[in-house]
Amino acid sequence: MTASPYWIAHKGQPLQGSLTIPGDKSVSHRSVMFAALADGVSRIDGFLEGEDTRATAAIFSQMGVRIDTPSPSQRIVHGVGVDGLKAPSAPLDCGNAGTGMRLLAGLLAAQPFDSVMVGDESLSRRPMRRVTGPLAEMGAKIDTEADGTPPLRVHGGQALHGITFASPVASAQVKSAVLLAGLYADGETSVTEPHPTRDYSERMLRAFGVEIDFSPGKARLRGGQRLRPTDIVVPADFSSAAFFLVAASVIPGSELRLRAVGLNPRRTGLLAALRLMGADITEENHAEQGGEAVADLVVRYAPLHGAEIPEALVPDMIDEFPALFVAAAAAQGNTVVRGAAELRVKESDRLAAMATGLRTLGVQVDETDDGATIHGGAVLGSGTIESHGDHRIAMAFAIAGQLSSGEVRVNDIANVATSFPDFDGLATGAGFALRAG
Ligand code: S3P
Repeated sequence: MTASPYWIAHKGQPLQGSLTIPGDKSVSHRSVMFAALADGVSRIDGFLEGEDTRATAAIFSQMGVRIDTPSPSQRIVHGVGVDGLKAPSAPLDCGNAGTGMRLLAGLLAAQPFDSVMVGDESLSRRPMRRVTGPLAEMGAKIDTEADGTPPLRVHGGQALHGITFASPVASAQVKSAVLLAGLYADGETSVTEPHPTRDYSERMLRAFGVEIDFSPGKARLRGGQRLRPTDIVVPADFSSAAFFLVAASVIPGSELRLRAVGLNPRRTGLLAALRLMGADITEENHAEQGGEAVADLVVRYAPLHGAEIPEALVPDMIDEFPALFVAAAAAQGNTVVRGAAELRVKESDRLAAMATGLRTLGVQVDETDDGATIHGGAVLGSGTIESHGDHRIAMAFAIAGQLSSGEVRVNDIANVATSFPDFDGLATGAGFALRAG
């Protein structure tokens, strides 16, 4: 048996330089899915060459879609039309990707063939009834394990009908699954959300020529529409940039420029939270890339102070809490997080993983059902951290290592490759002391 890879992190240099962050994971997944369904060839630039998004592309290849890779960040997708997918001859492996599995559930439910979706250990523990429930209301037949987890066994050949769905959970994955099924359903499908979530599916479906009405927290489309091929430019992933925003904010003497980062307002809650805590982050060179706002983010070290994170920001920074917890540990005073119970059902239970890991390094953290209070300002000590196979927990503790008086070992880092394969290369290039073992 080979030992799973780990990092040793310790104090490095002040962070300096200008970084290009890889493509957005959410946008990359959707770009391949929608391009596969279009009537002709679409080109994708800035595609995230990560394990999650490669898994999604491989699934469409299994269903007969030709996808060329002229360079690692490009894909040419030969779309087969909404009715052109072929029955796969083996289970479809979504890897670690909740986005892949949940969105595909909506799409596969509407196909004339049966399919089975499986995932890795972490994905196999994640709740799927949030998508199979509304899809069943539309007429879909999908079996889960008894506790609502994967594998998903999709029985094809069902006639779907549109629904009006008030989602109880603020989840772009749930909304997108229902909209994708809605493309194949009789009549109209509409989704409302308790808090607005990222609207990439809506924006991209429109770019592919689908008539769709949407505004924050609401989306509505008619079934039976076709997709017109189009070219997609994927912006740099704000959630990957987030680790460098926090690292440069807390490592004295740092100044980093992160080039052309995607600034969709449903993703940038961390910017507001860090600014509340006293961070020095400016936006330069505002532009539009593939219909999304982008800007260079220039971040300089600033002494942070604790803050109460407004609950309204939670959905807009749902993937950024591991990084935020490290900023909170470095800040003077207490940071309070509430209304974030969704963190317990991400790639790991992120509230527990962050609280336990920070405590190992000597930080006092009081965990609640839906959040935590982080008592910041102490010098971090040494210790061994379990990432629980969660890419974002691993990267968060790589930053914590830069603040440690000793060494931080981060176990089980292989899944960093799901979202940010060259994280350690970019990080060490900027000044991190981080080596893999
Ligand atoms: C995503 C939506 C969010 C987010 C995930 C990506 C998407 O999940 O946490 O990383 O691409 O739609 P939920 O829909 O579960 O909130």
